[in-house]
Amino acid sequence: MLMPLLSHKAARFTESVIRGMSVEARKYGAVNLAQGMPDFPAPAAIKDAACAAIQADINQYAITWGATDLRQAIAEHAGWHLGLEVDPETEITVTCGSTEAMLVALLSIINPGDEVILSQPFYENYWPDCVLAGATPVFVPVRPPGWTFDPDELAAAFSDKTKAIVLCNPNNPTGTVFTREELAQIAALCRKWDVIAITDEIYEHIIYDGRPHISLATLPGMKERTVTIGGMSKTYGVTGWRVGTIIAPPNLTHAFRQTHDYVSIGAAAPLQAAGALAYRMPRSYYDALAADYQTRRDKFTAALIDCGFTLQPPQGAYYIMAGIEAFGAKDDVSFAQHLVREEKIATVPGSSFFRDKELGRGYIRFCFCKKDETLDLAIERLQAVKKLRK
Ligand SMILES: Cc1ncc(COP(=O)(O)O)c(C=O)c1O
Repeated sequence: MLMPLLSHKAARFTESVIRGMSVEARKYGAVNLAQGMPDFPAPAAIKDAACAAIQADINQYAITWGATDLRQAIAEHAGWHLGLEVDPETEITVTCGSTEAMLVALLSIINPGDEVILSQPFYENYWPDCVLAGATPVFVPVRPPGWTFDPDELAAAFSDKTKAIVLCNPNNPTGTVFTREELAQIAALCRKWDVIAITDEIYEHIIYDGRPHISLATLPGMKERTVTIGGMSKTYGVTGWRVGTIIAPPNLTHAFRQTHDYVSIGAAAPLQAAGALAYRMPRSYYDALAADYQTRRDKFTAALIDCGFTLQPPQGAYYIMAGIEAFGAKDDVSFAQHLVREEKIATVPGSSFFRDKELGRGYIRFCFCKKDETLDLAIERLQAVKKLRK
């Protein structure tokens, strides 16, 4: 239909492979280990707060850049968790998920010809975000083992054209949690080339083995040039609520609030009221969240290794990039299709996380943000892949 009428930007998009896999999962009755959404209940106190807010008729537009109490709670949380002193009046914007936050940030800072550095493999949305904002993405590879960058390759990606670097930490899809030393290398380059760092820290609380979560904004000279993105989706198990956050210096925040106003006006008011309670959850909640995910990680990585996948246990977030070389599959897409159709397990082909698709042919990505029964069923079904081993 009417394809010539599409914009050049829209014409460049294809359907999200991750969401496409969720459709396949439903069609074949598969366990969905593709899209990163928990299948266990959200905390009762947070759900009760949302219901109470609706009953109390908090049903009209909130302040465009976020309800006052929620911004206050986000600032308190950023203070103890990120080590960031944030002014809720001038440095916080609440958006419709961190997805909108990333787009708003890029739309607000990019001019034609500006380059944005992305590590590759990257979270699927960053490339379309660059297309929508009119940025030219420049890719820096991160490779196993360690799934981290080579400092020389990183340095070579910066130039006078670089406007921003997007860093996902903890990382989806690789599971890397960047060390202070790695962050310092990025920070030094941002300062040298006068570049804005946009850090997607949506997995800030899902981190293993006692590793610290270090926010890039806390490094010397970085607060004034860092945009810290987060949200409720992963920390409180409410991916469908669509509440995201941007912490940024006042001059950037001012621009972000205007762009956000024109993009969406604001996030759902009653869910923002519940968010104010969520961000004030006791620290024991966050400790238990990380501990529970670590148990899932240990169980699921052991099962994948037993089946013949090669992998590095993630240091954070809830994904595993699993090498499929042991199975003699033609490529990642055919292997993922076999898994969803024959073994009833939905995953994401590794190539979805690369612009250069060939680099991802040897991997599929599993997510393990699932309750015990779901993971047990997936592990039971996965036993069938042992027969595929060469
Ligand atoms: C790295 C990363 N950023 C952002 C998102 C989307 O988050 P939100 O639900 O806040 O839009 C995801 C979801 O999977 C993600 O993995």
